[in-house]
Order: sequence, then structure tokens, then C-alpha cells
Amino acid sequence: MITVHTIKELRQHVKAARMAGREIGFVPTMGNLHQGHISLIDRSTADGCYTVSSIFVNPLQFNDKSDLSRYPRTLPEDQQKLQAANCDLLFAPNVEEMYPAGQEEQSIVHVPVVSEGLCGGSRPGHFDGVSTVVSKLFNQVLPDKAYFGEKDFQQVAVIRKMVADLCMPVDIIPVPTARAEDGLALSSRNGYLSTEERQQAPALYKTLNNIAAALQNADGQSLETILDQARKHLDTQGFKTDYLDIRYSDDLRPLMNDELQAQQLRHSSITILGAAFLGSARLIDNIQVTLNQAFE
Ligand code: PAF
Repeated sequence: MITVHTIKELRQHVKAARMAGREIGFVPTMGNLHQGHISLIDRSTADGCYTVSSIFVNPLQFNDKSDLSRYPRTLPEDQQKLQAANCDLLFAPNVEEMYPAGQEEQSIVHVPVVSEGLCGGSRPGHFDGVSTVVSKLFNQVLPDKAYFGEKDFQQVAVIRKMVADLCMPVDIIPVPTARAEDGLALSSRNGYLSTEERQQAPALYKTLNNIAAALQNADGQSLETILDQARKHLDTQGFKTDYLDIRYSDDLRPLMNDELQAQQLRHSSITILGAAFLGSARLIDNIQVTLNQAFE
């Protein structure tokens, strides 16, 4: 695997691969790689792509500057993992390479509606930072396909909408969340958990599954009641819940109470999303479900 730090070198290598007839698969990351990231690389190589990954801790998407400064930077270990996974090219730019005129003067890509609420509500400006850096990376790499983990479900929805609205010629490929054996979604932020918190952490995933079970047998309960009970339960497990919510999977529009009882919801794909603090870590997770039994 070759590592480059400048856009110029990146473009030379990608151009050569394209001239050799290869499709370009792209996996953008912020480093501190785990099996979830590697599953994205695996999908790209399985698709036969010349696989480019990027590692850039993007300051523009951190609304909390202490979160940015403590974000783990582990380039040598990440390079080894990417090499072992048969990644072809790593692009690891510094902040000056990505924002030569400074962050204040950077043009911003804003994706309305889908970026609002959920993580967008709790982290103002976060998705502007994500859509801006991903659009820059897409213009630098010019990939045919780009792979994103479904753990960041809202991020995938924002990127899909951006690509559609701005006619970017790239296929967005969502890849299922990689989980530890106890169900915890793999995340770079899991490294912030103490031993005790790590044992409590799977309760977020369990809570999402409990909400799914309650929806299947809603029995006249309102969405608010189901979510409120789940929130209280999660808070008794050591978490401080940020949000729990239920959305349609395709565009993240909110589910309405009367739709829960309505026949049209049957077989719709919905996504249950949650974010919660455990100690100093903010964990997010989601599950997609298709409701069947509620109307049998
Ligand atoms: O998911 C991430 O790691 C980041 O949000 C991304 C997509 C690499 C943009 O900085």
C-alpha cells in the first residue's frame, strides 16, 4: 500500500489506476481503524475496485473542540491494518492541505432537512462539516463507489442526499454495522469507555431491540410512551440518553403516532436510532426493522 499526503500525489495514483482500467472504491475515515472500517475496505476489494482510503480528523465537523483534541490519532497502526486488508492507496492529508485558506473561508456544503434533528440537533454544524469534507474528498479522489458504515445512519442519509442533489457521479454503498459479540456497535469512541462502562455499553443496542419488540406489539401504546419507557430504562443502565427516535429508513422522516396503528406502515422499513452518553463517551447506534406483527 502506498501512503500519500498531498492531493497532487493522490490524483497521480488514482489516474494511473483508472488508466489501467480499474474502478475506484473509496473509504473515507478519521482513522483509529477497527473491524468496522476494515469491513468497508473488504467490500471495496471484493467489488474488484482499486481501493483508496483516507484518514483525516476533520476539524470542521467537531462542534466540541475538546472532542477534536482528544480524538485518537494512530496512523502507524492504521497503515498496518489497511495494508493487511489489501487497501491500495492511503490519503492522509494535514489540515493545511484540506483547508489551505483556513476553515473560516471554506465554502460549506449544507444538506437541509435530513441533517436536522437526531445527531444534527445535538451537534450543531456537525453535518455541514461532514458534507463539506466528503464533497472535497470525492472531488479529490473521484471514486466510482464510496463505502460508509450504517452505524452512522444519518450520515449515510446526508451523503446520499448530497450526492443526489449535486449530481455527483459516485455510488454510495452502505455497509452493515460491525458489532462485538455482545452486540456493541464497533466505534473509535468505545476506546473512551472504562472496563465497567464497556460492560454496560451493549444496553444501548438492547434498548433499540426492546423498542422494536414494543412496536411489533404496540397494543395501542403511543410512540411517545414506548420511547419514554425506553429512555428511562436506558438511564437506569448508567447512560444519559441524548435521543431515541424512530424514522422511516429511506429518508429519515419522522414516524407519526397514527401511522403506527395504520395498515400502510405494515412492511415499511423503519429505523430506530439512539445516542447516549456513557461516562465521557457519546455512543450512537441504530437498527432497521420491518414491522409485521403489529397488524396480524
Ligand atoms: O464517518 C467518519 O469517519 C467521518 O464522518 C467521515 C465520513 C470520514 C468524514 O470526516
